[in-house]
Amino acid sequence: MPPVTRSALLSVGWAAAGDPAALAEAAGSPVTAVGVPVVETSDGPVLAPGVPESFTVAGAGGPAGSTSHRSTSTASTIGTALDLDRAGQRGFAGKVGQTMNVVGPDAGAGPAVVFVGCGPLDAVNADSLRRAAAAFVRDAGESGAAVMIVPPALADPAGSHTRAAQAAAEGAVLAMYRFVSHKSEADSSRIERLVVAAVGLQEGQVAEGVRRGAAVADAVCLARDLVNEPPSSMTPTRLAEAAVEHMAGRPGLTVEVWDEARIADERLGGLLGVARGSAEPPRLLRASYEPADPVEVDGRVPHVVLVGKGITFDSGGLSLKTAEGMVTMKTDMSGAAAVVAVVSACGDVGVRARVTAIAPMTENMPGGRAIKPGDVLTTRSGRTIEVLNTDAEGRLVLADGLTLATELEPDAIIDLATLTGACVVALGMSIAGVIGSDDGLVDRVRAASGRAGEATWPLPLFDDYRSHIDSDVADMKNVGKGGQAGAISAALLLARFAEGTPWAHLDIAGPARSDEDAGVLTKGGTGFGVRTLLELLEDYGHSG
Ligand code: BES
Ligand code: MN
Ligand code: ZN
Repeated sequence: MPPVTRSALLSVGWAAAGDPAALAEAAGSPVTAVGVPVVETSDGPVLAPGVPESFTVAGAGGPAGSTSHRSTSTASTIGTALDLDRAGQRGFAGKVGQTMNVVGPDAGAGPAVVFVGCGPLDAVNADSLRRAAAAFVRDAGESGAAVMIVPPALADPAGSHTRAAQAAAEGAVLAMYRFVSHKSEADSSRIERLVVAAVGLQEGQVAEGVRRGAAVADAVCLARDLVNEPPSSMTPTRLAEAAVEHMAGRPGLTVEVWDEARIADERLGGLLGVARGSAEPPRLLRASYEPADPVEVDGRVPHVVLVGKGITFDSGGLSLKTAEGMVTMKTDMSGAAAVVAVVSACGDVGVRARVTAIAPMTENMPGGRAIKPGDVLTTRSGRTIEVLNTDAEGRLVLADGLTLATELEPDAIIDLATLTGACVVALGMSIAGVIGSDDGLVDRVRAASGRAGEATWPLPLFDDYRSHIDSDVADMKNVGKGGQAGAISAALLLARFAEGTPWAHLDIAGPARSDEDAGVLTKGGTGFGVRTLLELLEDYGHSG
């Protein structure tokens, strides 16, 4: 099995925009493009507040370009005012994600100037900067370093200089992600470094923001790498190993992996049942993070348990999927990949709560010993589930994962799962469904997802639909009523196993994968949920 090689990532640095020498040093190599933030107003696009009309980039790779007001042989001074009027006439409004390359590198030897839309003046927030940075680096040329000027003002009341810098760094790294492990030829047509050039920002906050942004994006990219790896190399065994390797040496983390014998000893009947049709043995991963600087809320350190669905390939089992339905099913471990990435990054972003990640991992295959429709599984909780469709396997493994979570008596349990096609029908590819037993926790998850720029929408845990999963022979069955509220009936089953603890469930079947390379997303695994959960866990640190 090949090792999981981390994909080539953009590196990020920072400097004050007004300090050409520091900018050159932070860039390290010739600056090929400078991104200038522009906001939308009723009078057309204008420079974001605080951004100077001209500035100097030293060490810009040769003599100054024709855009210069003033030049020396090593510095380009870039003026923007005239060009901005022209850009407006050519259809550039300053919308988020819009860019306009106003001076190409050929116009002189200086860097290209790229206007970067940040949206309406009164609505610039962390997410607009994240998306703006993603759009910029996609347009910033094919090599070297790019500089993005980051404006000081965020309309977002929670906004700060740290958040602005963090968002820009995050967006840029995420947009430049590529999964290269299985490419025989290197594709090097991207910039290698981004310098966040802060105007009017406090240096310490900018440095901290860039560091955090890079750490968060790195965690998202880890999740993407794990998801994108082909399913026959990213087996349950390998996924657990890769997680352990990644966590080794990270402060505050302990990790254990249960093999098949231990899983049987622990009576994880749901996980064992799903694994029966596969030649690959299952695994259960449990990783815990203890903060170095814990926060206390009501006399105790908050403890959040994250549970991630880790089906490394979902063929459907004997209730076999169609050929087309199976094509993307290596991504059915996106929940597990996300919780592994989150718990690993807790130290880097300074989470002050205790965090445990639990990931049941198995393939769902139709082997000769596979569970059959009509079989009854006894879960760790003692509750029994009649399996009427072996393709509804996620809830079977999560039932055991959630029971293990409740046994830790945490303050909250959050599970992430590519659980139902029904959720994709309801909310599409961009939005995760959120369902939970505790409105306060659901609100908190939704607020975190808003700050993180990951879309979520609530679905009801509608108690009357509990009858949809009533079984004639067992405590419940693993399918609801065909064509009716499939995301909710799946969540109603999970809720039974999370009873007694505030719980929220994210159905990420849609947004865990992307069909397009656009904005912060790249084709394949998206790492959805990592940003939301890290944002949420940071929030626990502040609430004390
Ligand atoms: N992993 C799938 C859900 C899924 C579907 C994720 C499409 C991503 C894209 C899950 O295990 C599944 O097969 N669910 C079934 C449940 C049904 C049989 C009750 C589904 O949604 O069809
Ligand atoms: Mn399935
Ligand atoms: Zn599945």
